Amino acid sequence: MGRKFLIVANWKANPRTLKEAVSLTQKIERGVAKYRRVEVVIAPPFPFIPAVGRTLKKSRLGAQNCFFSSGPYTGEVSIEQLKNMGVEYVMVGHSERKTYLGETDDLINKKVKALLGAGLKPILCVGEKERVGEEISRVIAGQLKNVLASVKKNSLKNLTVAYEPAWSISTMPGAHPDTADNVFRTMIYIRKVVSGFWGREVAHAMRVIYGGSVKSANIVYFLKEGKMEGALVGSASLDSLEFTKIVSEANALIP
Ligand code: PGA
Repeated sequence: MGRKFLIVANWKANPRTLKEAVSLTQKIERGVAKYRRVEVVIAPPFPFIPAVGRTLKKSRLGAQNCFFSSGPYTGEVSIEQLKNMGVEYVMVGHSERKTYLGETDDLINKKVKALLGAGLKPILCVGEKERVGEEISRVIAGQLKNVLASVKKNSLKNLTVAYEPAWSISTMPGAHPDTADNVFRTMIYIRKVVSGFWGREVAHAMRVIYGGSVKSANIVYFLKEGKMEGALVGSASLDSLEFTKIVSEANALIP
């Protein structure tokens, strides 16, 4: 498809201090600077966004969440504010937000529409809570249908879909990464569902990436055999050497 891989560092509610956040950013930046075939996104927690943004040279700035409007919404952060800080990519619908904060498909739909309308790039997380057998979960089709309802077709090229089954997230009890074969079949399924609603062109214009226990030791399976176009990396993105290795492995796959 000729696109760069997208490797996203999802720091979640880490690290504890601004000093650590800036230091981690500097180390990652030094590590990934020479890997030109990969687009790296760092998504720090909100309070660290301005300082991390100022430290970035190669990588793009991301956010882990947003609110769909500005105004009287106590505790929320608007898309305009994120844009003003230089944020380009915004994650939406992460399973941890659904589990701990009760985020619904309806709310995620409003966020996706507002982000695309503002010219930002949503990274939409979809995936099942539990794996039942080797079947691809039909839950994914329902999520895509709900969260992409009435989205403008011509804005969908800015969308990235992250297949991130909750059971594969490294901090979940008994977590393990998905298999390359299943990831491949799920990528095809996601494009098929999107193609059914918006046509083949849209389905192939968007990126599909994988998230869940990604490490330097398994990234190649997901990108090469799984044919994913990138990865959403949680725990391993807090270790600058390990994260750099993930980016370097991805970079080496593109001639
Ligand atoms: P993990 O997290 O890489 O620690 O499994 C992925 C994520 O939740 O984005």
